[in-house]
Amino acid sequence: MIRVGILTASDKGSQGLREDESGKLIAKRVAEIPGEVVYTVIVADERSLISAELIKMVDEMDLHLVLTTGGTGMSMRDITPEATKDVIDREMPGIPEAMRAKSLAFTNRAMLSRAVAGIRKQTLIINMPGSKKAVDECLDVILPVLEHGIQILRGETGECARK
Ligand code: MTE
Repeated sequence: MIRVGILTASDKGSQGLREDESGKLIAKRVAEIPGEVVYTVIVADERSLISAELIKMVDEMDLHLVLTTGGTGMSMRDITPEATKDVIDREMPGIPEAMRAKSLAFTNRAMLSRAVAGIRKQTLIINMPGSKKAVDECLDVILPVLEHGIQILRGETGECARK
């Protein structure tokens, strides 16, 4: 089973002033991978707090996958992509490219997300935007490929050939 961590970056959410609907939706849909959620956290939009949580989920917990929501836009507090870049060893540009490309069919505002994805050690970290609808749309794009990608990352398969 793929072990998943969920990080919600939200100033209001971290103060209990906003319900974390997006984090809850991710937790529900992770079963489609199939995966199990073993850790969830809501943190303020602070670069060092976000990167520290990401490091914990990789270096201490050895999670297979970390999905983040929020903080990918243009507001001066949005800092999730920078915090993610601080901790990844290798970037995975195709994942956010695909999320943005497919999401443009629903809203041209999809181009306003600066989400990134990358690998730290043997953990895949993927940013998603903050709204529940955006998360739902982005999960439609990424969920079908995650099991295969994580199997390759973990050395459990080298077989990529399409039949
Ligand atoms: N992507 C999808 N699929 N659906 C959406 O509704 N909203 C966009 C974009 N990506 C959206 C989306 C909007 S309006 C913004 S401002 C950016 O994500 C950044 O969102 P964030 O700051 O909540 O991370």
